[in-house]
Amino acid sequence: MSVPFLDLKRQFASIKDEAMPEIEKVFESCAYIGGSYVKNFEGEVEQYLNVSHAIGCSSGTAALILALRACGVKPGDEVITTPFTFFATAESIASIGAIPVFVDVKADDYTIDETLIEAAITDKTKAIMPVHIFGACCEMDTINAIAKKHGLRVIEDCAQAIGAEYKGKKAGTLGDVGCFSFYPTKNLGGCGDGGMVTTNDDDLAVILNSFREHGAGKNGANALELLEGQKVEIKTKEQATELYDPYKYFNFLIGYNSRLDAVQAAVLSIKLRHLDEYNKARAHVAERYFAGLDKRLIRPSYNTDQKCCWHQFVVRSQHKEELCAFLSENGVGSGSFYPVPLHQQKAFTEKNCKNPNASLPVAEQISAESVCLPIFPEITEAQVDEVIAAVNRFYGEKA
Ligand SMILES: Cc1ncc(COP(=O)(O)O)c(C=O)c1O
Repeated sequence: MSVPFLDLKRQFASIKDEAMPEIEKVFESCAYIGGSYVKNFEGEVEQYLNVSHAIGCSSGTAALILALRACGVKPGDEVITTPFTFFATAESIASIGAIPVFVDVKADDYTIDETLIEAAITDKTKAIMPVHIFGACCEMDTINAIAKKHGLRVIEDCAQAIGAEYKGKKAGTLGDVGCFSFYPTKNLGGCGDGGMVTTNDDDLAVILNSFREHGAGKNGANALELLEGQKVEIKTKEQATELYDPYKYFNFLIGYNSRLDAVQAAVLSIKLRHLDEYNKARAHVAERYFAGLDKRLIRPSYNTDQKCCWHQFVVRSQHKEELCAFLSENGVGSGSFYPVPLHQQKAFTEKNCKNPNASLPVAEQISAESVCLPIFPEITEAQVDEVIAAVNRFYGEKA
């Protein structure tokens, strides 16, 4: 039996009857961007996460950029983050002219090592961007305390962590802004690109809303006042009705076209109803791997504050290449996240970050050893058996 690394077709088959009529309704409404599907989905996420504002946007990368801008990060400012993450984390920082500062990670749960953050703070530091990697939350109490002490913003990269918890609170509600991705392979995946920013701060919500849509409209005017203290009144205010926003074609800030579309929102709304079930199924697979895999594989370990949502199941092996090749020969898909830590990526080795080619030994070691095994809600028990048997056969032959 072969076991794919991921099988999105099975998830589509399981929601097809719910999703297709909703997609048809979006087409019939012709309200493709924004509109009631997006509004409803935003409300559902607010409820799910227990957060005041959830604002849909065009991708996880866009969410990070919106969050950085809303937090007042400017060109030349430094933002502390992890080198062991997907490229978009640090790319978002560099793309607005700010400077990523890489701090090493912990070997047990692969998240940023909070004990190293304070030493990396300078008078240019503006924010910390912890990444809840593979679905495990960072040590947020310590990170928030450091941020408070130094007057920094905390932007959570939750792209892999929807449904994950830290001390009973959901990822995305733990810092100033949470940034989610609905890339199709994520725990809550759309049928295209999509993202979301979340916050409990009403002012940040206004600014995020305005940057998402060209710094225009009433949100743009209010955001300008919040960010720069400038108050602007549009003279035609008396013409305002529910349908006509006199501010609409007035732009107050340089923002983006970074909106969520209605087809994504319709599909994501349906999948959100199943998210806890999906995450539970992932946790079950992780439990089976913990129980069954050869003990020579180094597994992640999480403390009781962390409730992982198992975006990936990532173990470490000194025989990474050989093991992945063996699994492939035996019909089992595997991955390697992330083979190159960000401080060693070409885009960051000469410029674009504070510490190119720094020595970040834990991230480097994990990158050299990480093997990701198949974990998705629809994987069958027999397929999990097959993965465990194949890994253990490999280690059996090593003995
Ligand atoms: C940790 C992390 N940050 C950011 C992103 C960017 O999200 P997107 O692909 O939706 O732009 C991703 C996902 O791909 C991710 O895994």
